[in-house]
Amino acid sequence: MLEKLEALYQEALDALGQINASDALTEWERRTIGRKGEVTLLLRQTGQLPPEERAAFGKRANEIKNLLTTAFAEQETLIREQELARSMEEGQIDVTLPGRVTPRGHLHPATQTLREIYAIWAEMGFQVYRSRDVETDEVNFELLNIPQHHPARDMWDTFYTTEPGVILRTHTSPGQIHAMREYGANGTKPIRVILPGMCYRYEQITARSEVQFNQVEGLAIGRNIRMTDLKGTLTEFARRMYGADRRVRFRASHFPFTEPSAEVDVDCILCGGEGCNVCKYTGWLEIGGCGMVHPVVLQNGGYDPTTWSGFAFGIGPERITMLKHGIQDIRYFWGNDLRFLNQF
Ligand code: FA5
Repeated sequence: MLEKLEALYQEALDALGQINASDALTEWERRTIGRKGEVTLLLRQTGQLPPEERAAFGKRANEIKNLLTTAFAEQETLIREQELARSMEEGQIDVTLPGRVTPRGHLHPATQTLREIYAIWAEMGFQVYRSRDVETDEVNFELLNIPQHHPARDMWDTFYTTEPGVILRTHTSPGQIHAMREYGANGTKPIRVILPGMCYRYEQITARSEVQFNQVEGLAIGRNIRMTDLKGTLTEFARRMYGADRRVRFRASHFPFTEPSAEVDVDCILCGGEGCNVCKYTGWLEIGGCGMVHPVVLQNGGYDPTTWSGFAFGIGPERITMLKHGIQDIRYFWGNDLRFLNQF
């Protein structure tokens, strides 16, 4: 058995010397000195030898196992070094190569328009007032002169919450009430604010209408504000937004919270007023609603309508962006498709 052991030792040592990859080395360890390796198994058979041979065999077998373990460790270090050197050579880094460009995000087209709108109104002395998205039925409708069951409610299909009387605002107009109550100092101070934000309507989604869209409300309250102020201010806004030669028209309309009320149109940017499919061959495009603040609304905001008056308007930034860039479908805005967004 001693001879067998010596032969095994030589063989294992020779095989170890040939190995140059770590996989093969692990396999060698398993086969030779591992728990079920040949040398280990032979060592376990010491007990089967005649008693006088056992001591010498056991001593030599342990010696061989130690020698092989040391040789294994040395070979392992050698292979590791070789592998490291090889991988460094293969994976050499060329520090002169240009770095990878990290793509940078940019503002959403609706946000860009919103910021343009803020800047124009800021120049005209209007500050931004942030109102809430989740509103009460009372402020969204009743205080705006739209009582329960009023037919005008059909203009604003509403998303209700599970909390009775709490809804998602259908327009930014309820912000008028909050601004008047907060800034008006009990109806003693003039106000000039714009109120931007998301609105929600339970509507059929089409190329022109979304269930979620931005509006920018405007509100000016003072002692001598008239319809001519409203027309002049909105015309100035449209010209700053779309270009100095734009024509603007006011069409009589109806909103319960303004009297008189109007809708504002600009001549179609795409066809220059000639008529095209975007303006439905009218030559005009609607940008929002407006009017003189209704006395009931002034009163609900804390103002005395016999001495105070004001104008208000509500415009849609997505529709404005569509006009500016000739975008044919509003659904692109919240589709998160980078092929669309990257164009702006
Ligand atoms: C209103 O919401 C009134 N609160 C506006 C107003 C304010 C009138 C103050 C008088 C005084 P209207 O429903 O027309 O009105 O909406 C105003 C603008 O919001 C529209 O001209 C349009 O630009 C935008 N808008 C309305 N519905 C949608 C929709 N579903 N998707 C995208 N934009 C919309």
